[in-house]
Amino acid sequence: MSEPECRIGVLGSGHGSNFEALADACSQGRLPARIVMVLSDVAESGILQRAQDRGIAARHIPPGKFRTKLDDEAERAYVQALRQAQVDWIALAGFMRVLKGEFLQAFEGRIVNIHPSLLPSFPGLQAWKQALDYGVKVTGCTVHLVDAGVDSGTIIGQQAVPVLDEDTPESLHRRIHAAEHKLYPECLAALTRGELVVKDRRAVWKKSK
Ligand code: GRF
Repeated sequence: MSEPECRIGVLGSGHGSNFEALADACSQGRLPARIVMVLSDVAESGILQRAQDRGIAARHIPPGKFRTKLDDEAERAYVQALRQAQVDWIALAGFMRVLKGEFLQAFEGRIVNIHPSLLPSFPGLQAWKQALDYGVKVTGCTVHLVDAGVDSGTIIGQQAVPVLDEDTPESLHRRIHAAEHKLYPECLAALTRGELVVKDRRAVWKKSK
């Protein structure tokens, strides 16, 4: 009998290029899962359009009265939609709101995010610009579990990207984005296959027998 399929819900607020990379990986068999739902706090976001174009259930759920987080009612609506869709994993892909208690408890240890720096350096907004302004020679991207902090959960995987002398914020961001599109599906594939497991705040590869 074949393994039951892993179901992924994706949350995003922007272009949705990481969603697209995950969806491509699913359809090409590199990620043994199916994206069953895409939710966004931004009605006109590219991610919702891209999901619709692929025939994936896509919904705008208004975030409520706050600017950087979901209000309680909105958070409940997100949890309910994802539960109804029976998701096993939630992938944040450019979702610009901090998730709080109820959401984190509902899907504990099953929410991942991609961040455009080598965490713990440069958490928060415009991490590629923070890296350039600081003058580091290497930056990159990080896939991590989501906890109550900002970009602070257990690190699942990282990819380094060199900073070039001639880089502008835009050129560096472009190369980091390209690295993200490779790293995110690889990390999710390892998690959904159970090859990578989290123990004591560390993601470790399971030894094959
Ligand atoms: C990515 O750079 C990701 O690291 C950050 O938000 C951006 C989303 O880009 N969390 P996209 O919407 O996937 O193109």
